[in-house]
Amino acid sequence: MAARYCIKPYSVSEAEAGMEIGRMVLTPDDKVILSEGTILTDSILQGLQFWNVTTVFIKQALPAEPDIDFSIPETAVQKNFYEDYENTINVVKDAFTKTRFFKDVALNTLQDLANNLIEPLINAHGVINHMNLVRRQDDYTFHHSVNVAIICGVLGKWLGYVGKEWQDLILAGLLHDIGKTQIPLEILNKPGKLMPEEMEIMQLHTTRGYKLLRDKPGIPQGVIHGILQHHERFDGSGYPLAVPGDQIHRYAKIIAVADIYDAMTSDRVYHRKSSPFAVVEMVVGEMFNKLDPEIVTIFLNNVRDYFIGNIVELSDGRQAEVIYLGQFMAARPIVVTEDKEYIDLECNKTLSIVKVIRA
Ligand SMILES: [Fe+2]
Repeated sequence: MAARYCIKPYSVSEAEAGMEIGRMVLTPDDKVILSEGTILTDSILQGLQFWNVTTVFIKQALPAEPDIDFSIPETAVQKNFYEDYENTINVVKDAFTKTRFFKDVALNTLQDLANNLIEPLINAHGVINHMNLVRRQDDYTFHHSVNVAIICGVLGKWLGYVGKEWQDLILAGLLHDIGKTQIPLEILNKPGKLMPEEMEIMQLHTTRGYKLLRDKPGIPQGVIHGILQHHERFDGSGYPLAVPGDQIHRYAKIIAVADIYDAMTSDRVYHRKSSPFAVVEMVVGEMFNKLDPEIVTIFLNNVRDYFIGNIVELSDGRQAEVIYLGQFMAARPIVVTEDKEYIDLECNKTLSIVKVIRA
């Protein structure tokens, strides 16, 4: 068993006697005053304040684990997940294909699918990681619909949804892009960027989905709003009506977060798959004012926890394990490489995570 550590910054006022220094401490004019391995005492802490040192790096033990094995194949849990996921995709594919031709949605079939097959996927241990590793080069719309339903279910639990409201949210996620069945296949599957006039047609999937379902007996209103409004944005920059945050249904706001996260982490013909770490950085950086701040904060804070222990590939080609994530930004965690080098990517900006190899 290898002892595992992380190095974490503390302000001197938060540091306590008994903590171990993880990185050499320098004064503001670069004199070394403490070396790595020093155990803090009350008098050392007073001394640090005397020297005007504001931050110290503390070494913290992580729970012992067996030596990192970079070559473990998929587990039985993952194998089951992939099989059930594949079955789900096939049902969705069949139902959506029929909707394209008959202009009718098999609501009961899809509701049963959400309750009996998708809910167990949502409750599967490590669900966010399994989804990131699912191979999904083709049939994008079907995979995307199932993924958004799963993410809506996971995020819905974090937001406190239970019972019928939670089930409706999952159904809304599953059906959010049902209107794409009414978009010509040559536009839907076009490799490369869409022309402006094609983009306009593509955007009609929100209203077409709404029209397909609005008169269905028993369809929950939240599901209808989720379909119609999932491309509306908090700052009023979305479509089809460009309404601001206070006029967007909460299901639509949740779907928006799930939709963006899944689209960015997927393999697309015209979109290189981004690692979930990079997606978190992008969501924080670019999308924050377009998404509901409460929902996106809860999503990012919880999704981070899934990244601990992931085996990733760094931009210099080395493999490493993620051992510690910062307070909010998960994109630049602390990692340990195969040759036992600890790298704080927040400090070392020349390196980044290019992909997740194993979760
Ligand atoms: Fe959409």
